[in-house]
This record gives sequence, structure tokens and C-alpha cells, in this order.
Amino acid sequence: MRTKINVNLLKDFLSEEDFRQIEPFIVHASKLLMEKTGRGSEFTGWLHWPSETLQNKSLLNEISTCKDNIDTINPEYIVVVGIGGSYLGTKAVYDALKDNFAEGKNRKLLFAGHHLDPVYHRQLLDFLADKNFAVVVISKSGTTTEPAIAFRLLRNLLQKQHGDDSSRRIVAVTDAKKGALRKLADKEGLQTFVIDDDIGGRFSVFTPVGLIPLALAGFDITSMLEGAAEAEKELSTHFTLEDNMAMKYAAIRQLMYQKGKPIELQSTFYPALSTISEWWKQLFGESEGKENKGIFPASLTFTTDLHSLGQFVQDGLRVFFETFITVKELKSDIEIPLLDDDSDGLNYLAGKSLSFVNRKAESATQLAHSDGGVPVIEIEIPNISEKSISELLYFFEFSCAVSAYALNVNPFDQPGVEAYKKNMFALLGKKGFEDLRKELEQRLND
Ligand code: PA5
Repeated sequence: MRTKINVNLLKDFLSEEDFRQIEPFIVHASKLLMEKTGRGSEFTGWLHWPSETLQNKSLLNEISTCKDNIDTINPEYIVVVGIGGSYLGTKAVYDALKDNFAEGKNRKLLFAGHHLDPVYHRQLLDFLADKNFAVVVISKSGTTTEPAIAFRLLRNLLQKQHGDDSSRRIVAVTDAKKGALRKLADKEGLQTFVIDDDIGGRFSVFTPVGLIPLALAGFDITSMLEGAAEAEKELSTHFTLEDNMAMKYAAIRQLMYQKGKPIELQSTFYPALSTISEWWKQLFGESEGKENKGIFPASLTFTTDLHSLGQFVQDGLRVFFETFITVKELKSDIEIPLLDDDSDGLNYLAGKSLSFVNRKAESATQLAHSDGGVPVIEIEIPNISEKSISELLYFFEFSCAVSAYALNVNPFDQPGVEAYKKNMFALLGKKGFEDLRKELEQRLND
């Protein structure tokens, strides 16, 4: 793996003895994962998915045919409809790789169905009204309300634009048999891809969930799978903290938790990586936060947030540790010019690159936070590319499963997500929820 973990600044917080003591628990947690003997092991299909998908080329071939079909329509925009694990992985990779301003070689992805904001969806429909667009609708269960509503709205618009021809512009990613989306896709003859039963949403970025929209946008999904497969190979081979960085990261997290640090901040000086933090928050939050346990994942983007939450991190309640995601080589840089007029006082930086300044700000922040009592670790990726991002994502998936097992919770379920849904269905007047509706309305009106 080309991803590295740097623990130099942990020395004041963790000792060799701490690592020695926790190692057997982390080794045991890794065994539960690898031998598929832990809780929820029926959802570990993601573990060898990257290498298996590369070996058996059939999915890549199918995706390539799907892309050819969509290319004949040549849509300017692909609207990705999904929420949670059916949304964040694609958005994370897309935001990391896209050009912020230029119309690069990639197609633009737009997102819908990841919330219920009417203004956003009204604006999206108005924007798309005269545009050439296609839709990738993703829902493993096929019954999630937010994407179902967004898909209904977009399907309606496509119908108005293209009549019977609209189904050519839709790709559905869902369960092989179950759910309303599967029923609808079969009835309308939509092109579909399957999310396997043994892979949960937040572990699905390397399945059609992430691969389809990213391929349609023109990203190199073979490279993505190769990056993930490299991480898979390495993390499935060595089982010591020294040789397995996912285990090491899991060990650090658990030690921090035991030492009274129940919050992990993921920080980066590279805003392109901020959505990876959003994906990471779901991955770890939904996997670990249960049975009244778990490390709360939060994220910061620097230097922006140094001018807001920076004060709290430096000086506030000492409840967190901080993981920096950094990048070794950037694809472009910019030099600070020397000016005759030095009224802004910046000539001392003239000739230096902006990456130099950013890196110094990063080191300065790491040292300051560490001195302020925040244990700091750094994860470095070699560059921002399909391959490196995927290696990082797989590393987090592996580490998350190990960390959750070490915490003695099921990494692969999410029982808590149902609570709001039940209440929402009742308040919306869905059939079968009549009694709960009465009870909730009374509580709201009391
Ligand atoms: O990780 C998960 O399982 C969840 O976040 C789901 O991905 C999310 O709730 C969306 O579910 P679905 O894909 O069934 O629409």
C-alpha cells in the first residue's frame, strides 16, 4: 500500500505498552472479520469484492456496455439519486477527483434524494427542465423514502421530455428481487445492476453503487478497483499492528476511546477530500455507534475551520483525538509572485509554492493541537487519484470493521436508523401506522 500512517505525535499520549496490551484484542477482532465468525458476518461480501471483480471481468464489461448506451444519448448531467451508503461513496470520490471550475473531461454529476429539501429539488427540476440528462437511481432496499420521492420527480420530468424513450436514460441499482424500485425497474424495462445481499450500503462504494455513476461520469473505475484490491491484498495478509496499518489505526482508536477520547476529528488541509470525511463519518458512525457505545466521528476542513472551530480544538473541552488526511504529491501547484509593491507584506513568501505554505500550516496546526492536548495522527495518501482514493476508502472499511469488533458491536447493522422512519411514516399517514400517528400527534400537540 502506498497509504501511510504517521504516529510520531502520539508519543506523549500512547506508550509501547499500550499497543502491546491492545494488540491481542485487535488481532482477535481481525480474525472475526477475516474468518467471518463475528456478528453480522453475512455482510462481509465487500471484503474480497475488489479483487474478485477485477478477476471476473463480467461486471466491468456490463458497466462498459451501460456506459456505451448512455454515451449515445450524450447527457450533459448524470443525476445520482440515493442517500447514505447509496450516495456518499460516489460523492466522496467525485468531489475528490472533479475539477472545481473547469468543464473537464468528466461529465457532471448532480445529486438528489439525499435529503427532503423542497427548494433544492425545485431548483434541480427547474435547472434540468431544458437539459439533456440521465438518472442513476440507487437504493439497496428499493424502499427508502428520500430517493424514492426524488426519483419520482425526475422520472416525471424525463417522461415529459422524452415520453416512452425516457427509460433509456435511467439506470437503477437495487436488490435482485425485493423492493419497490426493483418492481418498477422490471415493469418499465429499466437497465438494472444488483447490489449483493452480503454488502451493506456503507461498504458498497466499489460495487455498482459507486462504480456505475463514476463510470458514467468518465472516471477510471478499473483503477479504483485496483487501488482497493491492493489494500485488500495487503490488509488480508499481515496480522500484526506493525504490518497492518488498518489494525494499527483501529488499535489507536480503541486506545483513545479507553483513555477518555470518545470523539475523533478527521481533519484535512485539502478541501477536495472533505466529502471523504462525510463518507467516513457514516461508515464509522453507523458501524460503531450502538449499544450506548462508539467513537463519535466529526470532521474539519482546514485552514477554513481553523478560523471557526480551531479555537475549540486548541483550547476547549479535551474529549477528542484528531486524524489528519494528507496528500504527498499534488497534481498542480501555484507560485506566489514577487511584487515591487510589498504593501501586503508577503514578499517573504515570494517564489514559494502555495503547497509549501499549506504544508507549513498543516505541520504548525498538528504541533499546536498536539501541544494543546489533542492526540494527533496522520494518514498520508500518495496523490489524489482514483487508485489512491480507493486504497484509502478500502483501508477505512477494513479498519472500521476491526474497530467495531474490538468495541464488541456488530459493524454491519444499523438498528437505530429505523426509529425516525417509523415516526415519519406515521406522521405522513402511511397505511399501517395509524395508532402510532395518533400517539405522536398527541405528543406534538400537548
Ligand atoms: O449504510 C446503510 O445501509 C444506509 O446508510 C443505507 O445506505 C441508506 O439508508 C440507504 O438505503 P437504501 O440503499 O436501501 O436506499
